[in-house]
Amino acid sequence: MALDTALHQGELAAATAKRRTFAIISHPDAGKTTLTEKLLLYSGMIRTAGMVRGRKGGKVAASDWMGMEQERGISITASAMQFPYKHAIINLLDTPGHQDFSEDTYRTLTAADSAIMVIDAAKGVEAQTRKLFAVCRFRRIPVLTLINKMDLPGRPPLDLMTEVEQALDIHASAINWPVGSGSEFAGIVNRADGRVKLFSKSAPGGATKAAVADLTLEELQHSGRVHEEVLAQVRHDLELLDIAGNPFAREEFLAGAVTPVFFASALTNFGIENFLDAFVTLAPQPSARPADGVDGSELLVDPITTPFSAYVFKLQANMNPKHRDSTAFLRVCSGRFERDMVVKHHRLDREVRLSRPHSLVAQERSTVEEAYPGDIIGIINPGIFAIGDTISLAGGFNFKPLPQFQPEIFARIRPTDVGKRKAFDKGMGQMAQEGTVQILRSPNEMESLVAAVGRLQFDVLQYRLRHEYRVETVLEPLSFTCSAWLEGDVATFKAPTESIVVKDQRDRLVVLFTDQRMKALARERNPSHTLRDMG
Ligand code: G4P
Repeated sequence: MALDTALHQGELAAATAKRRTFAIISHPDAGKTTLTEKLLLYSGMIRTAGMVRGRKGGKVAASDWMGMEQERGISITASAMQFPYKHAIINLLDTPGHQDFSEDTYRTLTAADSAIMVIDAAKGVEAQTRKLFAVCRFRRIPVLTLINKMDLPGRPPLDLMTEVEQALDIHASAINWPVGSGSEFAGIVNRADGRVKLFSKSAPGGATKAAVADLTLEELQHSGRVHEEVLAQVRHDLELLDIAGNPFAREEFLAGAVTPVFFASALTNFGIENFLDAFVTLAPQPSARPADGVDGSELLVDPITTPFSAYVFKLQANMNPKHRDSTAFLRVCSGRFERDMVVKHHRLDREVRLSRPHSLVAQERSTVEEAYPGDIIGIINPGIFAIGDTISLAGGFNFKPLPQFQPEIFARIRPTDVGKRKAFDKGMGQMAQEGTVQILRSPNEMESLVAAVGRLQFDVLQYRLRHEYRVETVLEPLSFTCSAWLEGDVATFKAPTESIVVKDQRDRLVVLFTDQRMKALARERNPSHTLRDMG
């Protein structure tokens, strides 16, 4: 190897080793926004919390891009931000929830190397968390668990551990343990060395870092700062965990077999710094990604030895409806990215210049001069990028196609004016390619069905057809609530009543069901067929 290549690779390996690219998975209101803000506080990106306000604060976020969003005062699309913490460079991918929950939320997870699952201590594992966790499992993304809102009355910590294990079918291993809960929540015990971090509030709403004292359990007892009963409970729980709890091994966490569990209160900052320290130590750096070689072989794209490569995981339409441009969000998988680089666009088989790349650092848009594996860059897309596209310097492979996710809402759609059929078809084709919705075809191919994971995707579809293609549409909701990809002979498939078989954009068979019971019934009745939830 030439000396300058070796030097470049050394620099690249060092930059890659620092990267921690992750997403937060949680149910709305568990505290994702609050935690994000506190991570920025502890990384020094903001000096006081309360600046990164979401929709509740009424401030329009930098990622808001579309008239409709402003009308509704919500942020539809996910973005990414980068910040340093100690030796690490953290890339946080935002996964929208609430009514803006969409396939983008799922696809964003494919760009993450790990995930933080935030659970509300009073509510336990909730619906949206389960769905997002299923994607992590499918993609083999290791998950850290943060049990939040320990400052409020919640469920007993041992119950929460059991619930995580049972609801998600994963081993849970407590890295630290809470000292008290609700108004008595005073600190955490680090199980590895038995040391206690005792916190005290420094500003209302946790605007600044919490003050922390470091002591042993004995010292804590003598300090008199915690009630005897609270200490007795902690000792009891710790003993129980030592005997019956799951041991923690990083390899098992990386393999998705165990989730390390932490207790905290994002609002008061109690436990956040310890969590962040553990996160940068435990979470994986970007690693090799599977791809298909052009010769049909399967290969792994190494982040260091393969020259620059990336894939598109998300597209965001332009703010200005007069321009069809959008922003393509790329996850760098290998090599070093430089501004104005000319790369191969594998699907189109042509070269493209990556000009005007940008990133979002704590909501501020800035130009990217260089980027490394794990980083996310936004590129102006003059209609040439589609979800899942691979670009690279050397060419020769394509990253594995992004999975499609099980839609939960379905509708029939048609133009109000039949004369607009052509524009409608064109718009629908474009929207499907961008991944705004999934298009399904009925067996007779006479009508278009649209499918999505969130209601907002339909609104975006109709809005964009109206504004960009001048087509008004009628959307009739259908009563299906779930679906599955069907593998096996369709002729022998016994479909339950009211379910139908359709085809997706990749010509695969999809069965639509009225509810989960019908899906379970179909599985029971068709043991020689496979019904897959993610494709
Ligand atoms: P999300 O992004 O997951 O939807 O949740 P978000 O952070 O917006 O938090 C939802 C609510 O829970 C907010 O209160 C927030 O202040 C509160 N919260 C988050 N973490 C904690 C915590 O550790 N302890 C306590 N006690 N509360 C927490 P809100 O009243 O709905 O909104 P706001 O007016 O405070 O912004």
